[in-house]
Amino acid sequence: MNLRWPESQPVLGGDPVILRGWRSSDAQMVYEDCQDETLQEFTTVPSPYTMADAEEFVTLGPSLWQAHTGANFAITDPADAVIGAISLQNFNEPEASCEVGYWVADFARGQRVARRAVELIVGWGRVDLGLARLILKIRRENTASIAAALAAGATPTGVTVDEEARGVVHNFGIYEI
Ligand SMILES: CC(C)(COP(=O)(O)OP(=O)(O)OC[C@H]1O[C@@H](n2cnc3c(N)ncnc32)[C@H](O)[C@@H]1OP(=O)(O)O)[C@@H](O)C(=O)NCCC(=O)NCCS
Repeated sequence: MNLRWPESQPVLGGDPVILRGWRSSDAQMVYEDCQDETLQEFTTVPSPYTMADAEEFVTLGPSLWQAHTGANFAITDPADAVIGAISLQNFNEPEASCEVGYWVADFARGQRVARRAVELIVGWGRVDLGLARLILKIRRENTASIAAALAAGATPTGVTVDEEARGVVHNFGIYEI
């Protein structure tokens, strides 16, 4: 099936959690947010994380959108400060499925930001983009992410996979929503 990519990236949500496309002016905030060790441990962001990494990340979002290969959103607060990132990636067009990835800045955690961001991107992905299945791959020991995924309505599939990250093999649980 064909996914229905709109010409321009939408703005989703509202007070207190907004999802919007990335801008080059976001690089400094992304750089600061991505210094957090927990974020580096549980995501695929480079470690150590440099300003060049942040600049590359914020310019990648719009080009992935144009190519219909990724939907990368900044998570912001109502004052437009970047408090996280969420993306749809690894699209499987025949199955109308993709993976969801996210992080929330350490200072913004524990306020249901991830839960709301997942709800927003899943709602848009299903209704507007035409996805049938969204997959979350979460390390077994990442209790915060598992809790956020479950709170947003994801369910465990019972499937686990081993994957290497930075030279270490980790076990991931597969969730779907
Ligand atoms: C995982 C992460 C995104 C959660 O973000 P968050 O905004 O703090 O999560 P939320 O506040 O939306 O939490 C949603 C639910 O999970 C629960 N939760 C969050 N962190 C938790 C923790 N450490 N332990 C137990 N429960 C937790 C909350 O209580 C909440 O439940 P509720 O809605 O029933 O009250 C954030 O901790 C993070 O960015 N971690 C590092 C990067 C990462 O792991 N990314 C995901 C990779 S798969």
